[in-house]
Amino acid sequence: LSSTEIDISAIQSGQAIKTSWRKQPVFVRNLTPVEIAEAKKVPLSDLRDPQTLDERTKPGKENWLITLGVCTHLGCVPLGAAEGEPRGDYGGYFCPCHGSHYDTAARIRKGPAPKNLFVPPYEFNSDTVVTIG
Ligand code: FES
Repeated sequence: LSSTEIDISAIQSGQAIKTSWRKQPVFVRNLTPVEIAEAKKVPLSDLRDPQTLDERTKPGKENWLITLGVCTHLGCVPLGAAEGEPRGDYGGYFCPCHGSHYDTAARIRKGPAPKNLFVPPYEFNSDTVVTIG
């Protein structure tokens, strides 16, 4: 009931999907090598809610960024998980409600949101299946 199994095999590098867990939207994104490099080069001192990409992903699976799709300002669903949606000034996600910009590790970089997009508890069952919750 409280966990959700997701097949991630069809998510190409650079793409994301929206799914849900406990009735909340969840984004599963397959980061490109460039997006990973961008996330890693940001000094923690530049971050409002300092966390490294490693802290937000699993060891050896740093390309899989799994977060709630819930803006930490007032809870809108940010854009950027679906094809063609704007990803904001930092290439991650963009919340159009009041203009919060998240980077390629879904960390808040600009706008009113106080925190990074939340990383839910999850595990890889295999290379292609993830259980959230
Ligand atoms: Fe996202 Fe306000 S709810 S910026």
